[in-house]
Amino acid sequence: MCGIVGYIGTKRAYPILIKGLKRLEYRGYDSAGVAMISDSGELNVYKAKGKVDNLTEYCSDKDVSGCVGIAHTRWATHGEPSARNAHPHYSRSHNLAIIHNGIIENYADIKTKLQDKGVEFKSDTDTEVLVQLVEYVMVKKNLSLLEAVQVALHQVIGAYAIAIVDKRDPRQIIAARKQSPLVVGIGQDEFFLGSDASPIIDYTDKVVYLEDGNIAVIRLGEEMRVMSILGEEQELQVKTVDIDLGQIEKGGYEHFMLKEIFEQPECLMNCMRGRINVEGTHVTLSAMIDYRQQLLGAKRIVIVACGTSWHAGLIGKQLIESLCRIPCEVEYASEFRYRNPVVTKDDVVIAISQSGETADTLAAIQLAKQQGAFIFGICNAIGSSIPRATDTGTYIHVGPEIGVASTKAFTGQVTVLSMLALCLAKERQTVDDALYQQMVVELTRIPEKMQQALKTNEQIERLAPIFTYARNCLYLGRGYNYPVALEGALKLKEISYIHAEGYPAAEMKHGPIALIDSEMPVFVIATRDRLYEKVISNIQEVRARGGRVTAIVTEGDTQIQKFADHIITLPDTLECFQPLIASIPLQLLAYHIAVCKGKDVDRPRNLAKSVTVE
Ligand code: G6P
Repeated sequence: MCGIVGYIGTKRAYPILIKGLKRLEYRGYDSAGVAMISDSGELNVYKAKGKVDNLTEYCSDKDVSGCVGIAHTRWATHGEPSARNAHPHYSRSHNLAIIHNGIIENYADIKTKLQDKGVEFKSDTDTEVLVQLVEYVMVKKNLSLLEAVQVALHQVIGAYAIAIVDKRDPRQIIAARKQSPLVVGIGQDEFFLGSDASPIIDYTDKVVYLEDGNIAVIRLGEEMRVMSILGEEQELQVKTVDIDLGQIEKGGYEHFMLKEIFEQPECLMNCMRGRINVEGTHVTLSAMIDYRQQLLGAKRIVIVACGTSWHAGLIGKQLIESLCRIPCEVEYASEFRYRNPVVTKDDVVIAISQSGETADTLAAIQLAKQQGAFIFGICNAIGSSIPRATDTGTYIHVGPEIGVASTKAFTGQVTVLSMLALCLAKERQTVDDALYQQMVVELTRIPEKMQQALKTNEQIERLAPIFTYARNCLYLGRGYNYPVALEGALKLKEISYIHAEGYPAAEMKHGPIALIDSEMPVFVIATRDRLYEKVISNIQEVRARGGRVTAIVTEGDTQIQKFADHIITLPDTLECFQPLIASIPLQLLAYHIAVCKGKDVDRPRNLAKSVTVE
């Protein structure tokens, strides 16, 4: 999703802006651009379709001087990906340039009105409408840039994080946000802007996370000011960020995705640290202490999420229902927010999101809040919008996830859901002590078992070329492994562009079985659990139709090899924790198939890491 970078100070802006754009590449984008006020006072805008490298190549013979600038990576919403539609956008006079992340919903109305007044547009974007509107009111009402931005934002419906520069006032950047993230970094005689802190942390650890509906006035030589759209001054809340740069570099791996798959044992230890005691006998979540009454009072739990986080939610549902005996529903946030759901003050809504910025999940939270539910967030990105919108929550603490296909965030989310279910069950006395103890101990052993599961990497790398020919794949699982099948299929789709479907194994006979032939690989999660025998029957149904089966089994299994073409063996664990182990070979499988096919694993086409538009 779009990324914003800005700089104003005494250094040359261009290298800082380009480095910042590269840091934000992980969000997914299709074009990039930069605007700088040059040493001679010109406002130069340069844009290119495709990667940031295309932009730097384009700029190689251009004037990139100047100490103030804004830059952007765009993920197309209105208008095709092209240099013309890329940001920054000039105003009509070329005095102003804007970058924008989000969607202006009433842009068509505003555009028509401006066109009627003679304003001409150079792009198909909603963003250009905003900068033209700012300039129009600036001229018409003889306003300052700040006043004009305030007036324009009043007229706008939608989501935005914006930054605007005016070449007649090169000591100032105006920025604003509503439902799209924006961070300002404060250095010595310099300021930085970013969609998140990653383009900023090289230079300063002092940041201000702009709140919804606020405008930042960033003026060189002065203290930064924050105000509401109405002009009410807000208190400046400067925070210290603590992100390790090494965490966002590849650390010797060929791709971020592979690094993140291999990091999982350590990530889960970080996730459990301080929450499970050293003896491994007890789980405590601070949210459970601070909001005991609200959480224990839940008559129902509703999980809202999107994508991979939604799959984690499906596992959470099974954990919560079986351990806590609280009815639990899992909803796509995008559906929930528009279907007038029944939500009451007795509900606890759990919002799961890696980025903490997913627009639909945020909107689902707002809706549930309005109806009186208590909101619990499970997020990764610290200080992002969702943790700030929720009543309480638990961070998964797996570190920045850069690969667009989510891996470590998924297992982190499942780990937090497991700890939450255990805490709730213990308090509600719906789990007996022996099982509780067994589960807590087993959870602490998961990182070590993941380490073992990661040893399947070489075998999977060898197997991967066999599957590159496939046009369709089927993933089957039951119980706790059904969401694992969904997630395995999603991983393959996302990065190898092979169509894949996840299905509850027993449902296969109600449709997908018709697709099975020797051309369609079928991956079955057949670890040893309550439904093991039934899954064997499902494998036989596939075999009887000439299907090619790759089975994920528990070590010591002797039965399935009779029916499967390939076997991938995993360490044993409790049924409810199997997703934490079984998802690993499926992540590796998707990764190696995509690599064999020569795909851009970390930045798959059309996908965004952080989906800040609905
Ligand atoms: C995008 C990402 C997915 C992610 C989903 C939800 O589609 O590519 O990896 O699962 O958004 O994102 P969230 O940040 O809310 O977990």
